[in-house]
Amino acid sequence: MHDPFIQALIDIHRGLPRKGPGDDALSRQWMVHVSPLLPANPKMADMGCGNGHTSFLLIEVLGGHVTAVDFAEPFIDELKRRLTDEPITPVLGDMLKPGLEPESLDLIWSEGAAFAVGIENALNHWLSLLKPGGVLVFSDAVWFTPDPTAEVSAFWEKADPNICSVGDNINRAERLGYRFLAAQTLPQAAWWASYYGPMQDT
Ligand SMILES: C[S@@+](CC[C@H](N)C(=O)[O-])C[C@H]1O[C@@H](n2cnc3c(N)ncnc32)[C@H](O)[C@@H]1O
Repeated sequence: MHDPFIQALIDIHRGLPRKGPGDDALSRQWMVHVSPLLPANPKMADMGCGNGHTSFLLIEVLGGHVTAVDFAEPFIDELKRRLTDEPITPVLGDMLKPGLEPESLDLIWSEGAAFAVGIENALNHWLSLLKPGGVLVFSDAVWFTPDPTAEVSAFWEKADPNICSVGDNINRAERLGYRFLAAQTLPQAAWWASYYGPMQDT
């Protein structure tokens, strides 16, 4: 049973193609970008996978196997309905305790989900699941300005009290033991074309 705020979020996102901002072309581009760092048939996890939209892209671009983890049953049900014979294992559960062995993953992918448990917390838990040399790719909300308006600050104070800049996130990650490779800003279209647009249409 989720708290009423989370339950409302789940209800709002039911049936939507993506459960957060993102862009297929950009996701594919990043998958291609990290592919030289991965072995053949990589073992991957999609943390906070929603309906597994990106899990299918991971299989299409990188092959291998994806453990797709989300704690929202309606989203995992959507993923199960779409699954045919793709090597994706849906897991209904907490992305901080996905039931995976330490050092078992070549790639952890997470779009728009880490903030829900605190980015630092997520990075800390996920590091132990990566094999030496493993790769983490995640997207999340960050400040692009040092002085946001009072209204915007008040909103994010509730949504993610730990929100910080890209630079702060890089520092957090490096303090935990990650080596930073690259970062990119999601284009505005990633919020509208595949996320807010379909949400407005429902
Ligand atoms: C903004 S949505 C993004 C979903 C998906 N990655 C996408 O881009 O379509 C965040 C997702 O994280 C999931 N989530 C939040 N906290 C979680 C937790 N502790 N364990 C597992 N999933 C979680 C939510 O159910 C939701 O599906």
